Formats: sequence, structure tokens, C-alpha cells
Amino acid sequence: MKAGGWIPVLDRAAFCILTLSFVCLDVVALKSQLFTRFGGLPHSNNTPIIYETLYFDQKIDHFGFLEDGTFKQRYLVADKHWKPPGGPILFYTGNEGDITWFCNNTGFMWEIAEEFGAMLVFAEHRYYGESLPFGQESYSDSKHLNYLTSEQALADFAVLIQNLKSTLPGAQHSPVISVGGSYGGMLSAWFRMKYPHVVVGALASSAPIWQFPGMVPCGEFYKIVTQDFARSGHNCDANVRKSWNAINNVSSSASGLQWLSEEFSLCTPLKSPVDVIVFKGWLQETWVNLAMVDYPYEANFLQPLPPWPIQVVCKYLGFDSTVTDHQLLHGVSQAAKVYYNYTGSASCLNTSQTATGSLGLLGWFYQACTEMVMPMCTDGVQDMFEPEQWNFQAFSDECHAMFGVRPRADWAGTVYGGKDIASHSNIIFSNGGLDPWSAGGVTHNLTGPLVSIMIPDGAHHLDLRYSNDRDPPSVREARSLEVKYFKQWIKEAKKTP
Ligand SMILES: *[C@@H]1O[C@H](CO)[C@@H](O)[C@H](O)[C@H]1NC(C)=O
Ligand SMILES: *[C@@H]1O[C@H](CO)[C@@H](O)[C@H](O)[C@H]1NC(C)=O
Ligand SMILES: *[C@@H]1O[C@H](CO)[C@@H](O)[C@H](O)[C@H]1NC(C)=O
Ligand SMILES: *[C@@H]1O[C@H](CO)[C@@H](O)[C@H](O)[C@H]1NC(C)=O
Ligand SMILES: *[C@@H]1O[C@H](CO)[C@@H](O)[C@H](O)[C@H]1NC(C)=O
Repeated sequence: MKAGGWIPVLDRAAFCILTLSFVCLDVVALKSQLFTRFGGLPHSNNTPIIYETLYFDQKIDHFGFLEDGTFKQRYLVADKHWKPPGGPILFYTGNEGDITWFCNNTGFMWEIAEEFGAMLVFAEHRYYGESLPFGQESYSDSKHLNYLTSEQALADFAVLIQNLKSTLPGAQHSPVISVGGSYGGMLSAWFRMKYPHVVVGALASSAPIWQFPGMVPCGEFYKIVTQDFARSGHNCDANVRKSWNAINNVSSSASGLQWLSEEFSLCTPLKSPVDVIVFKGWLQETWVNLAMVDYPYEANFLQPLPPWPIQVVCKYLGFDSTVTDHQLLHGVSQAAKVYYNYTGSASCLNTSQTATGSLGLLGWFYQACTEMVMPMCTDGVQDMFEPEQWNFQAFSDECHAMFGVRPRADWAGTVYGGKDIASHSNIIFSNGGLDPWSAGGVTHNLTGPLVSIMIPDGAHHLDLRYSNDRDPPSVREARSLEVKYFKQWIKEAKKTP
């Protein structure tokens, strides 16, 4: 909380633990980790999405022997272009959500299937979508959630592939390449690291495998968000930075709260200091989301967005220094409405709009509260947000209150190698320069070969999306380089007996 703010930090932390509110800042940081829910409707022209939906009996626990139950893992198969025997398999390592959504939004795989004579397989991550080991009630029981880990998910993928290869005629010698974006990209990279006998190579797009404690500075993420605003319009970042104080000023009176609520067309008027915290958290999340989906073409998200949406937002935030708090906040409300009301169909703005308790969200919260500890912080100087330190203890307390478990800060580094991954090979890490998640990504080449492909004007896993006329040259080059490496890996695999 900013110095001079009107709620002491401790009260806020207590509020967060007591109410388990999803808008508390630590959890807001968590929420923005739910990165791949974004992207929008596929831009499909000539590659229709046709797949078969199948289910595979997976062990609930691959690593212990007491729990012997199974669950049905959903996976999607598209074999229209597959050339057996031996045609390659492109295998999407599913993320924290409904696999059909990722399938529909990974146009890159659909567009290259024919060229490779490849079968496409999209495997759902356990505990998401339809792949629920214990039914939906499992989310309320952390004994069941206990088996929701990335290690178990990778084991699911390996077992599924082994099974496909042994049961599908013509697949026995098919080289498999894993593909994923975001958390799915992390899984794709880790899959190659842990199961190199199962996949010949991996594409990890926008995969922040280094966003873990001690690997990158916690402020980098929000710095990139800020840079996106800074480059998209005159004074844009500076005015967002000023807006927090303006909100604090204006909201210090009842009439100010009312004015703010009306100015932002809020569905529920702001009444209390806690409402204002929620409101600011919601705005912050809005700017973060915009940075992730700052795509060069119109795209659909929660709401449709214009091409280069941050530039449009920044048109309302170009004030010079002499502007009143009310004028500034008017600009901020116009800017927020670009995001929430681009189509003009919003009747009001809902500050809990992204705070729903959807299954995907709860599952990801649990993962963030156990293995996927990703420190985030802001300082208000190098970024445009209110200063907030990374507070592992507060985060851990929130997790404990929510799920009865505490995060293990160092585990991801121990199990996946942290920055010490040069002993691995055949992994492409692609990152967009506009994407805040590139902060935790592999953005330089390592021996191995581990290849890093930078897409300077790309947002979150732009390369995995359908190609588009407005794609910048950098993403076209990235895709063709990815194809080149895929071909090389497949050739190598075919040479090896
Ligand atoms: C994905 O596409 C399929 C086929 O067009 C459709 O049936 C399904 O509803 C889509 N899924 C999502 C989440 O959009
Ligand atoms: C907020 O109020 C303080 C004190 O009245 C004032 O100095 C400042 O300019 C106001 N606005 C902002 C954005 O800080
Ligand atoms: C959204 O835009 C429409 C059309 O411009 C406008 O009538 C409506 O009031 C806007 N909604 C909000 C919440 O501002
Ligand atoms: C705001 O969003 C929340 C969460 O999706 C929902 O429960 C609530 O009904 C919405 N409120 C309004 C006024 O639309
Ligand atoms: C890594 O090496 C590849 C191949 O030489 C090159 O195309 C790419 O630009 C390099 N990546 C970075 C981040 O320098």
C-alpha cells in the first residue's frame, strides 16, 4: 500500500485473509498468472477445426502406490493430414483450462499440420475442463487437489503418448513434438526436459519458466506492462502512475466515491475504503491484461478489442502535467471503457468481473499456492503502479487460509532446474517483447541447443495464434524458424534407430 494511503497494510492483509477476497493484491498477482485465458476467437480462414474427442483412463497418482484410482483425461485428435506410418505427432500440453479453447486458439498447429503430415493431439491438463479426477466437488477438498501438480500432468502426457504409440497403427515410430503456450509452454519445455525419450523436441511459447523465486527480479513483469504503455502514447504511463493518487484523493469523501462510481459507470457503487482497494486492483489488472493481448489486429477476449488496444487506451491518457484529479480520472475511465466497452454493449462496469470462482481459476490458485510461486512486485518508479513489495509470508498465509496448504517457494527450481538447464536440448523458447511474461522467459540462446526466439512486437504467445494479414514480420519469421527446427528434430529422430 502506498505511503500515505488510508488503510494500514496490516488491516489490508487481515482483510484479505479473513475474506479470502480474490482482489487482494497478492492474489491479484496470482490472477494475472492465469495468463492463457486470453486470446479470443480463432482467426480461421481455411483451416477448419475438426477433431475427435477421446478419453483416456489416467492414474490419479503416478508417483505413489496407495491411491490406485483413475480418472478420464480428455484429449482431442485431428488426424486428417497425418501420414502413417511414422508421420509426426504435434502434441499440445494443455494448460489451466478447457482444452478445446486452447485447441481452437492454437492456429499455428492447424496451419502446419498438412506440411508435416502430422497428427495433432491436444491433451487436457488434469483438474481442468472435463478432466476432473473427483468430479467438480474436488475443488472444495484440498486432499483431492493434492494430485493437481505439474509433475502429475507431465506424467499424464507421457503415459498418454506411450499408449497412443502402442495402440495406433502406424504411430509406433512417429516422432512427437510438444507445443504449448504460457503455462502450457512451461509444461512443453519441462516435458522435453523430463521425458526426452517421449518427445524429440518442444516449442515453449511465452513460457515464464524463470518467474520463480530468486531467478528474475520480481519487478520485471510490471516494468514491461509499463513500457508497453510508455511506447503507446504521450505521457500514457505517467498518467496511469498519477491516477492512483488521484483515486485516493477523490475517494476520501463520500461525494467523491459517488462521483467515481458514476464516472466509471460501475455496476455497484463504491462505498468503503475496501471497495476502493478492489477498484484499484481491478484497474491494475485491466492494464496488465491489455499488455498481454496487445495484438496488431482486432481480437476477441472477454470483450472484443481494437488492433493495438493500448494505443487506443492511451489516446485518453495523453494529459500534460496540469490536470485536475477529476480530469485525469475521466481520462482513465474512458481508457478502461476501451477495454470493457469496445462494442458499446456494456451497461455498466463490474469490478468483480474477472474475480469469478470458475473452476479453472480455483485450480490455478491452488497451483500457485503450492508449486507455482511467482513473485511479483511494484515500486511506482520503474513501473506505473502503486508500490507493493513481494511478501511471501502474506501470500503463504492467504494460501493457507484458502486451501490449508502453504507454497514451497523453491520446489519449482529444484524439480525443473531453474536457470541451470543447459544440459537439455531441442527446446525453442519464443517470447514477445510486449508480453509481460517475457520477464520470466528464456530470452537468450543457451547451449543445448536451447533456442530463444524474440518477437519484439509480439504480445502473449502471438506465434501460436492463427496467422493474420496484420502480423508483424517478426512473428512470421519466428514461425518459419520454428518450422525449420521441427523439421530438423524430426529428421534427426528418423535417423536414430
Ligand atoms: C472449439 O471449436 C469447436 C469446433 O468448432 C467448438 O465445438 C467448441 O465449442 C470450441 N470451443 C471453445 C471453448 O471455443
Ligand atoms: C492529491 O492531493 C494532493 C494533496 O492535496 C495533491 O498535492 C495532489 O496533486 C493530488 N493529486 C495527485 C494525483 O496526487
Ligand atoms: C458503452 O458504449 C455505449 C455506446 O457508446 C454507451 O451507450 C454505453 O453507455 C457505454 N457503457 C458504459 C458502461 O459506459
Ligand atoms: C459482477 O460480476 C460478478 C462475478 O462475475 C457477478 O457475480 C455479479 O453478478 C456481477 N454484478 C453485476 C451487477 O453484474
Ligand atoms: C538464437 O539463435 C538463433 C539461431 O542462430 C537465432 O535465429 C536467434 O535470433 C537467436 N536468439 C536470440 C535471442 O539471440
